[in-house]
Amino acid sequence: FSAFLTDNFGRRHSYLRISLTEKCNLRCQYCMPEEGVKLTPRGQLLSTSEVLTLARLFVQEGVEKIRLTGGEPLIRPDVLDIISELRKLEGLKTIAVTTNGMNLARLLPRLKDAGLDLINISLDSLVPAKFEFIVRRKGFHKVMEGIDKAVEMGYNPVKVNCVIMRGLNEDELLDFVALTEKKPLEVRFIEYMPFDGNKWNFKKMVSYQEMLDRIRQRWPDLEMLQTGHTDTAKTFKVPGFKGQVGFITSMSEHFCGSCNRLRITADGSLKVCLFGNSEVSLRDVLRSGASHEELLQIIGAAVGRKKKQHAGMFSISQMKNRPMILIAGTTSQR
Ligand code: GTP
Ligand code: 5AD
Ligand code: SF4
Repeated sequence: FSAFLTDNFGRRHSYLRISLTEKCNLRCQYCMPEEGVKLTPRGQLLSTSEVLTLARLFVQEGVEKIRLTGGEPLIRPDVLDIISELRKLEGLKTIAVTTNGMNLARLLPRLKDAGLDLINISLDSLVPAKFEFIVRRKGFHKVMEGIDKAVEMGYNPVKVNCVIMRGLNEDELLDFVALTEKKPLEVRFIEYMPFDGNKWNFKKMVSYQEMLDRIRQRWPDLEMLQTGHTDTAKTFKVPGFKGQVGFITSMSEHFCGSCNRLRITADGSLKVCLFGNSEVSLRDVLRSGASHEELLQIIGAAVGRKKKQHAGMFSISQMKNRPMILIAGTTSQR
């Protein structure tokens, strides 16, 4: 495995998240401010061929999984071409996408043909009016249709990401678990995280422990499942249910020790951690005509600066970062 992608703590970064766009057709409260974010001028975003050049380089060095994120990746016009081209990369085992599901039902057959392996879909409420309040747009039924169609087309597991916020959708916790009775979904409850402009505060966050306690009151026999070393979610299952539930505990129990992720933002910056504002512009290096070797040196140096773990819940809420919409999924203050 490449020394360039291995950090000082022995973590091998075999999972790359590439943001394809800063734009989104929704306005989720936890992701961006109501007024939206200032978009990077088009010429400063990575082109199709730049995305593919970087992807190829990372795969040569040992990246086995690429997740396309945004903004909303499925609104990028060349997303199908990018997936088809990624599919040709020897050594890349998994191509995944994290989407809000709005365009999913329509695009699914073509995504599958292009070679997409895995789909994660954001859904924060099962009540249409509440969904619309949280994402500040209409579209609940389109998302549900996307989820169902992904299952029908054989995607497994289809992961549903649900950011739980106190006073907003915490009352739907059990309804989301109940959804896994008949549908083979992995519903993942995500602890609400602070990013620029999302008005995070400690009280709005519902912790993993609290969620687990509430679910156990209703389903005491909820059983914990084995997970892979680098998985972000702790997963559980109600015996007899088709699906499972997971918890992404970025705030209360960070999983930095097993982190295998790197991110490239839509404007071509490498972020070695979701939290923190240390970035290096691979776009500028590419455009300066640097050789692959020079690019690798710069990537290696950035990976070498990766911290052991994020600074803790309170520090990251004070820290300058980007809004989530500008980070590779789910970053334009720097
Ligand atoms: P899988 O590849 O299916 O494991 O998906 P994922 O969980 O990595 O990706 P997804 O885009 O579905 O992101 C869901 C949530 O995972 C995000 O909201 C974050 O909370 C969390 N997450 C993803 N990457 C990181 C990371 O590098 N650090 C931390 N702390 N959380 C992350
Ligand atoms: N806290 C937790 N999760 C978030 N996401 C976006 N913003 C936040 C936040 N502030 C999630 C979305 C999406 C995933 C990529 O990141 O739900 O599913
Ligand atoms: Fe769009 Fe995803 Fe941000 Fe929601 S979380 S506004 S769907 S990028």
